[in-house]
Amino acid sequence: MRVSRRSFVQVSAVAGAVASPMVAKASMVMADGKPWPSVKVGSINQLSPGKPVSFNYPDASSPAWLLKLAEPAYEGAGSGHDIVAFSGICTHMGCPVAFKDGRFVCPCHYSMFDPAKNGVPYQGLASDYLPQIELRIDAASGDIYAERMSGLIWGRQSDAA
Ligand code: FES
Repeated sequence: MRVSRRSFVQVSAVAGAVASPMVAKASMVMADGKPWPSVKVGSINQLSPGKPVSFNYPDASSPAWLLKLAEPAYEGAGSGHDIVAFSGICTHMGCPVAFKDGRFVCPCHYSMFDPAKNGVPYQGLASDYLPQIELRIDAASGDIYAERMSGLIWGRQSDAA
């Protein structure tokens, strides 16, 4: 069967868009088959741009950051799409990351992650995205819930602790 160049390019573009999104979407369940926990992690009223709030997700041994950015973010929650949450553990070798000057920075080997772009590493030794936590905001109360995580926390074999 002969395939025209135009058809090949069109099919390749569609297949690429479907098969290789920048960040894989989180599964509806964890690796152990249990549903992801829904955990209240804060409230819209307590967030100020650039001031991160710490919490743990999906379990008590997993530090994470909740953050309102000064700009819309990929997968951002809220009316401004500017509220995001990420694992607080660097994907290079597991050091705790901190938010500084609009990015997450790892003090161990200076990897930097962009919270507006799904936690993509853009400097340093880390090659994996910082796992992003999917958020849901209760419209009536403004409470923010962590619902799922995309990506694997450093040092784990699966997303089930
Ligand atoms: Fe974070 Fe190495 S542990 S850059």
